[in-house]
Parts: sequence; structure tokens; C-alpha cells
Amino acid sequence: MVSSRALSSTGAGSSRGVLRRASGASVVAGRAGSAIKQPTRLRPHRAYVRDNKTEQTDGDSDDQGVWLNGNGNNGNGNGVLSSSGVTDEAMAAKSQVAFEELQSFLKRQGARGASSKDVLSRIQSPVEGEMQQQTDGLRNIVGERHPLLSAASEHLFQAGGKRVRPLIAILVAKATRKLYGLADVTSEHIRLAMITEMIHTASLVHDDVLDDCELRRGNSTVHSLYGTRVAVLAGDFLFAQSSWFLANLNNLEVIKLISQVIADFADGEIAQASSLFDVDITVEKYLDKSFYKTASLIAASCRSAAVFSDCTEGEKSLMYDYGCNLGLAFQIVDDILDFTQTEEELGKPQGQDLASGNITAPAILVLEQSPRLRELLKEDRLQSEGSLQEAMDLVFQKGGIEKAKDLARHHGDLALRSLDVLPECEEKESLQLMVEYVLERIS
Ligand code: IPE
Ligand code: IPE
Ligand code: MG
Ligand code: MG
Repeated sequence: MVSSRALSSTGAGSSRGVLRRASGASVVAGRAGSAIKQPTRLRPHRAYVRDNKTEQTDGDSDDQGVWLNGNGNNGNGNGVLSSSGVTDEAMAAKSQVAFEELQSFLKRQGARGASSKDVLSRIQSPVEGEMQQQTDGLRNIVGERHPLLSAASEHLFQAGGKRVRPLIAILVAKATRKLYGLADVTSEHIRLAMITEMIHTASLVHDDVLDDCELRRGNSTVHSLYGTRVAVLAGDFLFAQSSWFLANLNNLEVIKLISQVIADFADGEIAQASSLFDVDITVEKYLDKSFYKTASLIAASCRSAAVFSDCTEGEKSLMYDYGCNLGLAFQIVDDILDFTQTEEELGKPQGQDLASGNITAPAILVLEQSPRLRELLKEDRLQSEGSLQEAMDLVFQKGGIEKAKDLARHHGDLALRSLDVLPECEEKESLQLMVEYVLERIS
């Protein structure tokens, strides 16, 4: 029995718990027939609701549990989340069906075998022009400030990440415009896309300080080049710049949504820092943390794109759900790769998450079955010779990687389902392929 927790509250008692959880955990069968323990429900909570009383917030009866069920209704008509009362076996069967559907979808897309880069350029093809506009905008965004700050920010933008977040925002923008028979995105959509990349970049600068990481985007990190003080200020500067651009969008709903993301990022990083070597960490806590760190930004930007397309509440909510589940899959995959990729592929030592006490999905999902793994993490804190290797080996042997892959695929599947509302168009296909792109990295 996992007790529900008000994740946080802001202001005059308004709750903004993100992923409401309640009692119990369901067993969901994965591809290899492995049974993995999953949170009974993962509810993309209305995180964007602060004082917007028109939205559904807490106090609803879902503490009894909602989880994936094809017939369910999460209040926005997409049928992704269901009410409780479904047996574990039924859940497992449904999840298996969902997984098979996902596999067949991926097959239809014929993207298997293509490199990640190829897939990404296919995804981008319907919005090349818009992506170019946002990239040009980003170059000028830093402005004339202190040369050191400008140098630090420039360094990052030039190094160039994959720009996945602006891409998602623009794809949602264009696809939702098509719901209303409109072909082009607005200048607000482009600005929104730029803002998402700025916030993401700022969060990476701070994350690398916290994780003491030397390399990012194939380059030395800001803190390793300029020192921690400059890195903290450079991150703050980018957050502040993004707030300025955000305010200039003149849309209160979007301002609330996106400003929440910045607070969520800090929340997630603090949750992570305060749970190092905590062997009692649950999957639910891990998913909460991952939502705050990573999924919140993607979810909020998808919803914001729908806001600027004048979508209905149901459509906005589904776009939020898409971003939320895609973001969770993204973080789970990133955490798996920390175990499975080589130092060369990662650009940092393999197993660094575990070594630093950051216990992620592959380890969490096997902790109960391995007293030795618990001991290594809890008592030894991986200090003794060979203990990291032993712990990594245990995660592999006990099937932690496969279980975490199942969890990532499950969220990928949920993300796909939220897209049903969109009209058939190439942007929708790209959003579907984006799920493939994320999951492809672990296939
Ligand atoms: C890295 O995100 C941080 C995580 C959320 C895991 P990306 O992999 O999108 O980073 P860039 O922007 O391409 O460098
Ligand atoms: C994700 O956390 C980073 C942010 C959301 C800022 P990680 O620490 O897992 O990401 P990487 O591995 O450094 O990219
Ligand atoms: Mg990191
Ligand atoms: Mg980190």
C-alpha cells in the first residue's frame, strides 16, 4: 500500500500534485512476459492549474486508483486512464495488447533500422521552415549582456542539442492548427518553441553542476570551463530570459503553465538529491521525480502549443498527456542508457547515475528481488572495490533493464493514444514517430 502524497502545494493551499498516486501497485506483463510492478496509476495531474478554478484539480475520487485501460475515461474523453476495479490479470492483458499495438505501429512506420539521426530528420521534415525560424531566433535571444554570460550561453547554443523540445512544440502547434483547418503556425508558436529550448538548456547547465558532469553536447560543460559560479548565473540568466520572452507572449494560461515548469525542475532535482542511495525509493517516486525534472516541460509546452491554436479543453488536455508520457519515456530511456551504453557513447562514465547514488528505474525495479543489491547501495554506498560493477551486474542479471524498457514502452504507448484526437496529417505522423525515436534508443 503506497500512501498518496500531496506532492506540493503553492500559495493559499492550492494543490498542484503532479502525478497523483494512491494505494496499491499493479503488475503489468511486459514484452518478454516478465511481470513488472508498476504504479497503480499515473495521472498526469493538472499541474498547470494553480488558481485556475475552471480546471479539474484535486479532491476527485481517483485516489481509488486509475491506470491504463482502453475503456477508461480520465475526464477528457481520451480513454487513457481508467477507474479502478480491474484485476491485475486484466491489466496485464490490456497492457500486453497495448504493447502489441505499439509494436505493429512501429513496424508500419518502417523506421526500424534507420539511424536515430535519420528518424529525427524524418520527424522534422514537415516543419523544417518553422524549425529554422526558431533556431535563428535562439541565436539572437541572448542579447548584449556581460561577455562572460553571453559566452557561456553562446557556447551552449552553438554546441547544439537535438532540439527535440522545440520540434515537439512546433509539431503539436501545426497539427492542432489543422484541427481548425489552418495550415500555418503563429509567431507565438515559434516563440514558445524557442522558450522551451532556452528553459531546457538552462536546466542542463544547472543539472551538470549538480551531477558534476564534465561533458555536454560533445563539449566541456559551462561549469568545467568557467566555474560553478558562472554556470549557476548563466543558468539563472537563461531562465530569466525565457521568463521575459514568456511574459511577452501575453497569454496568462501559457505564462502559468511554463513558469510552473521552472519550479518543477528545481523540485525534481531536489527530490533526486535528497533520495541518493535511498533503497526504499518506489517507482512512483521515481516517476514523480522524472515528471518534475523532464516531462513537465514537454507536457506544458505541448499544452501551450494547443492553447495558441485555440483548442478546446479536451484537446489541450490530450496534448498535455502526450507530452507528459513522452517525457517520462524519454527520461526512463536516458536512465537505461546510463547502464547500457559505453563510456564513449555516453560521453561520461557508464553507470554514473548508480555510482552517484541516483537509483533509477533499472535498479529500482529489481531492488526487491536482490538483498545483495540493497546491501551494496545502502550499507556500502558502492564504496568498496568492485562494488559498482557487482551492482551493475545484478541489475542486468535480475532483468532490471528489460523491466525498465517495458516501463518506457508503456509510457510511449500512452503517449501514442493521446494523439488519436489529431487529424491525419504528416505532423501527427511525426509526433507518432517521435515516440518511436525515443524508444528506438533502447531497442
Ligand atoms: C537530456 O536531454 C536531458 C534529459 C532530459 C535526459 P536531451 O537528450 O534532449 O539533450 P540535448 O538537448 O539533445 O542536448
Ligand atoms: C535530466 O537529468 C536533466 C534535466 C532534465 C535537466 P539527467 O541528469 O538524467 O540528464 P543527463 O543524463 O545529465 O542528460
Ligand atoms: Mg545529468
Ligand atoms: Mg541529473
